[in-house]
Amino acid sequence: MMTLTTLSLLFLAATPVEPDGKALFASKKCTLCHSVTSEGIKAPDGTKMQIVDLSAQPKRKADWVKAYLEKKETVEGKPHPARFKGTPEELDALSKWLATLKPGA
Ligand code: HEC
Repeated sequence: MMTLTTLSLLFLAATPVEPDGKALFASKKCTLCHSVTSEGIKAPDGTKMQIVDLSAQPKRKADWVKAYLEKKETVEGKPHPARFKGTPEELDALSKWLATLKPGA
């Protein structure tokens, strides 16, 4: 017989979890080219990539970040070097998280 607890556990398991922006930042390999010092995110040791600290960038709105990662926006006439690969939900979560970043330490 199903108890109330079993039912609520089933409900929880079925609720889609909103993707976590900070986790996506690492899993989508943004850390290959970016650090976020204000969040304690470091670029890999010994990398040959040009590392851009995102906590040192101007504050941006989530919508702008989203468009930039889709290469619909530019910085000084140039689109972002890497195109975002993932679902629209992931892009949403990542852009929202990036818009919350505080200036770096
Ligand atoms: C191949 C290297 C590379 C990868 C991978 C990369 N970026 Fe970038 N990104 C750059 C460079 C270089 C700039 C600086 C561009 C400029 O200033 O013209 C930049 C700039 C940015 C900016 C700042 C724009 C501004 O001026 O405010 C954001 C936000 C950003 N990247 C997010 C991301 C995210 C999110 C990911 C992962 C999905 C990612 N980047 C992956 C190289 C990369």
